[in-house]
Amino acid sequence: MSAPNKSYDPVEVEALKPEEIARRRDEALAAIAAAGDLEALREVKVAHTGDRSPLALANREIGALPPHAKADAGKRVGQARGQVNQALKARQEELEAERDARVLVEEAVDVTLPYDRTPAGARHPITTLSERIEDVFVAMGYEVAEGPEVEAEWFNFDALNFPPDHPAREMQDTFFVRGAKDGESSNVVLRTHTSPVQIRSMLDREPPIYVICPGRTFRTDELDATHTPVFHQVELLAIDEGLTMADLKGTLDHMVRALFGEGMSTRLRPNFFPFTEPSAEMDMLCYVCRGESVGNPDRPCRTCSSEGWIELGGCGMVNPRVLIACGVDPDKYSGFAFGFGIERMLMFRHNVEDMRDMVEGDVRFTRPFGMEI
Ligand code: PHE
Repeated sequence: MSAPNKSYDPVEVEALKPEEIARRRDEALAAIAAAGDLEALREVKVAHTGDRSPLALANREIGALPPHAKADAGKRVGQARGQVNQALKARQEELEAERDARVLVEEAVDVTLPYDRTPAGARHPITTLSERIEDVFVAMGYEVAEGPEVEAEWFNFDALNFPPDHPAREMQDTFFVRGAKDGESSNVVLRTHTSPVQIRSMLDREPPIYVICPGRTFRTDELDATHTPVFHQVELLAIDEGLTMADLKGTLDHMVRALFGEGMSTRLRPNFFPFTEPSAEMDMLCYVCRGESVGNPDRPCRTCSSEGWIELGGCGMVNPRVLIACGVDPDKYSGFAFGFGIERMLMFRHNVEDMRDMVEGDVRFTRPFGMEI
């Protein structure tokens, strides 16, 4: 075993020479000063303070020195590393402050800008009114029923007891769907009312039947202030044992009270529909003047033209011939039905003066009705 090298000169260990340590330190400080952003500084940190950095490698050499030389070299390297770490920390703080200042400017949100440049839409008031009417009956246990808009003539007319030569089948009222060949009938029409859903409901269900049927209907009218070829109806059908016209009247009164408020009522006037017997025209009390404008020139009412009543639609007891066509025993069951136009109700309920406004789809018309769901 050789004797310890007493004459060992630490200056001879290249990496630990003072000027070499100073050079490595200065390189590190220069790199730190040159790091332009936090990412670059992270790389500088790894390169100049990591395990394989020049100063860390120099530090490892200390172990090779004789004991008397270790303290000096250790101090030199320790100081250099301390300076580098301090510079790193200072530069890190500087760059973080720069980044924060930049983010504040770049990601600033102008809270005074309009928050929503796309105007909100609105559901069509025909839809919301129709759903409101449905709700009145769903609350009483009625079911919502639907049927096709392109309907077999049998459902639209025959099963409803329209004789084949009934004027409603004439071209001026009904859109007939053209047959496959010229001049050939398809026996299909665009439904002229929602009453075919009565037939479908009776064929689909066993009594007792309580259905409310909203839907789109079609007639060959020109579009003008009071007519539209595409419009909406609500149909109601109740089939049960022992139903009478008193039930019909009570149901109508309940509906107008639910839609227009307490104190409302309806009145029936004789009329004719092939599918109801007896049939009636139904009017509701004018919800604006409540009848007080009648014979009172000092208080004219625009809503009902001072008539006191507003015509709503048709109603009656389901004709036994219709019950038979649908397989319902007329000796056991009776029923009532009514139907009315939703456009008309919207017109007088909201003072809409021109039906075309409901058809044109301009949101300036629908928006004031709100987003009622
Ligand atoms: N369907 C009839 C119409 O469109 C209205 C109605 C429905 C009448 C139900 C009586 C019973 O005019």
